[in-house]
Amino acid sequence: ASLRERNTFGVEATAPWLVEVADAARLPEVLQRPELAAGLALVLGGGSNLLFAGDPDGAVLALTGQHVTVLEDGDTAIVRADAGVQWHNFVMHTLSMGLCGLENLALIPGTVGAAPIQNIGAYGVEVREFVHAVEAFEPATGEVHRLDAAACRFAYRDSLFKHAPDRYLVTSVEFALPRQPVLRLDYAGIAEELATMGIAQPTPTDVAEAVIAIRRRKLPDPAVLGNAGSFFKNPIVPAAQAEALKAGHDSLPMFRGGSDDTRKLSAAWLIDQCGWKGYRDGDAGVAASHALVLVNHGQATGAQLLDLARRIAASVHERFGVAIEPEPRVIGATW
Ligand code: EPU
Repeated sequence: ASLRERNTFGVEATAPWLVEVADAARLPEVLQRPELAAGLALVLGGGSNLLFAGDPDGAVLALTGQHVTVLEDGDTAIVRADAGVQWHNFVMHTLSMGLCGLENLALIPGTVGAAPIQNIGAYGVEVREFVHAVEAFEPATGEVHRLDAAACRFAYRDSLFKHAPDRYLVTSVEFALPRQPVLRLDYAGIAEELATMGIAQPTPTDVAEAVIAIRRRKLPDPAVLGNAGSFFKNPIVPAAQAEALKAGHDSLPMFRGGSDDTRKLSAAWLIDQCGWKGYRDGDAGVAASHALVLVNHGQATGAQLLDLARRIAASVHERFGVAIEPEPRVIGATW
């Protein structure tokens, strides 16, 4: 089966088998099928955080369940969504129910099931803050696990699931969402966008609209120009190294790194400084609107995109001594 329509880079890749499962309860039986007996090569969500640098070497499974259920309601509601639900639709659905928290995460591509894997985050919010539990099936044992947020070991663009790819199939996620808004407008650009919209007393839905407007402006729409969002993680470096770099480069954006002795640097800024923004080699390129986003202008292969990524990382390392790493999962090659 061709996977071209199933990855937002729009690169060609072929899977020997592609199996869709709507009802997670059927997984034990489905995984017994002969074509799946050798194990799964990949569990596919929206394909928005993947680069096929080669073909997956076995069967690919996609969970397509679409149920959204309110399990508890009160000051905080617990809402369960199946892995196959489109993330952005889920965000807008929760807001329409008067539930808050996910507004800063509007318009992130992908599915609910993929959200906890890399702990999606944007505009000062990470999904970990609202994850109540993740339900996951473990093919090797046939067990169903229910992991709370602590068990998921969330960190910046990271979780337990990312360290053991395909060990767990996320089948559904429960979110704890407050009814009382706690708006997060601190990330650069949000307050300005709301002001431009003429909104002084924003609701969570207004914040979502502001985030949507900013994203539409900065990030290319994968439906128009193939991409996987940020291709690199913002590097976390020792504070001393960050301070030394800052001394030489006043405009270097620097954020808290997760602990006192680390800092997070802006990969976009580092790449931009190396002159890559808008670069194009054949159909593989860097978005003109954002240095962190690799784009497929049409017929680029995954291998060409990976090669470009390696050249970018090497130039950043040479100029700044900072190693940057891909954020999407690379299939068919090692970084
Ligand atoms: N910048 C540049 N050149 C550019 C773009 C940005 O120098 O071309 C500098 C700017 O100074 C800006 C800073 O980089 O202040 C940060 O840029 P931005 O606010 O766009 O955020 P980012 O660090 O590049 C991260 C996430 C995005 C998320 C935005 C907003 C990562 C890897 N990326 O990008 O997530 O939408 O913040 O919160 O953490 C994704 O993961 O796919 C993704 C798009």
